[in-house]
Amino acid sequence: MRAYLRGRALRCGASEFAVRARGASALGAMWDPQGEAAFVTDAGSSERTGSSASEPRDDSRRTSSRAIFRRLPDLARGLAWIPLGEFPTPVQFLERLGKPYEERSGTNLFVKRDDLSHPGYGGNKVRKFEFVLGKALTERASCLATAGGWGSHHALATAFFARQLGLSSRLYLFPQPVTEHVRRQLLAMFGCGASLFARSRPSLAYLSLAATSLGRAGRPFAIPPGGSTPEGILGYVDAGLELAEQVERGEAPRPDAVVVALGSGGTAAGLALGLALGGIDAEVLAVGITTPLVANLPYVEWLHRRALNLLRAHLSASEMTALTHPRLRVVQGFLGRGYGYPSAAGAAAAKRALTTEGLPLEPTYTAKAMAALLSFASESAAGKTYLFWDTFSSRPIDPLIDGASIRDLPADLRIAVQRARRQSGREPNPAPGGPRPPG
Ligand SMILES: Cc1ncc(COP(=O)(O)O)c(C=O)c1O
Repeated sequence: MRAYLRGRALRCGASEFAVRARGASALGAMWDPQGEAAFVTDAGSSERTGSSASEPRDDSRRTSSRAIFRRLPDLARGLAWIPLGEFPTPVQFLERLGKPYEERSGTNLFVKRDDLSHPGYGGNKVRKFEFVLGKALTERASCLATAGGWGSHHALATAFFARQLGLSSRLYLFPQPVTEHVRRQLLAMFGCGASLFARSRPSLAYLSLAATSLGRAGRPFAIPPGGSTPEGILGYVDAGLELAEQVERGEAPRPDAVVVALGSGGTAAGLALGLALGGIDAEVLAVGITTPLVANLPYVEWLHRRALNLLRAHLSASEMTALTHPRLRVVQGFLGRGYGYPSAAGAAAAKRALTTEGLPLEPTYTAKAMAALLSFASESAAGKTYLFWDTFSSRPIDPLIDGASIRDLPADLRIAVQRARRQSGREPNPAPGGPRPPG
């Protein structure tokens, strides 16, 4: 297998009916609960590849572009969903990064490139949002709201896809250490047209989010931090099934373990479920990037149960029993000083990934997960295959920033960020409010 996996993308199919946005609005398509497709559209400024908005659509073709609907065809009937990303994402052999481990113990490293899941903004939110935003459109939302840290990928993805769908977005943001990556994330949120609201701590940001969802004005749709709702988790059930299909086709190795960053938990929970449903007996090693008070096994197992319950009607009793106990381990020890603080091991691992494979990672999640991967590989038993699930968007962020600067931010946010930047270096400013949640 190695010969044809070496150093290249195996397959990256484009979703057949990709939604392409121009400017601030785009065409959104959805399933309604009756199983009849409906459009939420601003056709004047948008286009859909494959057919025009006025043509009847072949919805079975749309959903059959995703592994979860191939495996559970009836699921599409009662579930809101919208195609956003380009799947399947490639699987690549990490030959140069993994060389020392291969020489020592025959251990091989691979990466699943979800960082390429969308041409404008990739990463792990795209799969979740196909379900979460499908639901938002079903509810005729005109505004997406969420909460997260200043550098939250989830918040940026919310702003990005809101704009793609012609919706507005409201982001309630709380402090985190201001790395260069975080600064650019924040500017990209602004550049995507989001309304940004500074909150001094996570709990206040979550309260504001809850208040938004109570309001009726503007039909807001509140997305919980990280997008790890039961529906969102189905995006990663789909991902696990997608990998199972790639393995089946001989396009990817059968992994012994999958290594992924653990924040709000939906990615790891969904992967464990999807892999098991697809017959892949790999252990999911979920690397905690926030405090164990938030990122812990009982919590991820709870998310797993909630997603499994959504599938209950489509599975036999024996399948339900087989899927009840996920092959999932939560790995602590790679967090370093705390959520959002770069760690030395993470920085070293990210540097190795970049220099050996050209794989860009960011400090908060994927660098720490990569540090864990390299640690597992160095202690690995003979002949193991590890798959690193890349959850970060590696797409260029400058087009999203679009020339914005810190000076353009709302005054309270700008002042808080500038103060934190001044303090960082001397004392990296942990925000009040206890454990720092993901997002
Ligand atoms: C880049 C990146 N990787 C991993 C995660 C963790 O995913 P989850 O919140 O589903 O655990 C996040 C969460 O925001 C993220 O931004």
